[in-house]
Amino acid sequence: MVYVTRRETFSASHRLYNPAWTDAQNEAVFDKCNSIHGHGHNYVIEVTVAGEPDPQTGYVLDLKLLKQIIKREFVDKVDHKHLNLDVEWFRSTIPTAENIARIAWDVLRPKIPSGTLYQIRLHETENNVVEYRGA
Ligand code: NI
Repeated sequence: MVYVTRRETFSASHRLYNPAWTDAQNEAVFDKCNSIHGHGHNYVIEVTVAGEPDPQTGYVLDLKLLKQIIKREFVDKVDHKHLNLDVEWFRSTIPTAENIARIAWDVLRPKIPSGTLYQIRLHETENNVVEYRGA
């Protein structure tokens, strides 16, 4: 098994806020991330696909193709958006790095043309990274 990874970047803003809680609870849990007008991040997403290299091409999958799929199915829908306000995926889901990674998994997994999606790694800051490998 070989694991191939494509890295892409996007910029987005978000606000961490649970509508079921009081303002005080939200402030206590989310602190600065609860700031009412939101704040931005320069995200890095790394999409890893696992598979056997094709004997004809030597590729698990063509990374040019993976780049296009990530852009079309995910990055174009979140880049330069306010995740809470502009992106349907986050209407009822708090846009934490954890949930962004899970949504990226859900939308990309059925689109991978060869090999199998193995992992989504999402860097929200230089120091904060989440990984998701499915259920
Ligand atoms: Ni944030």
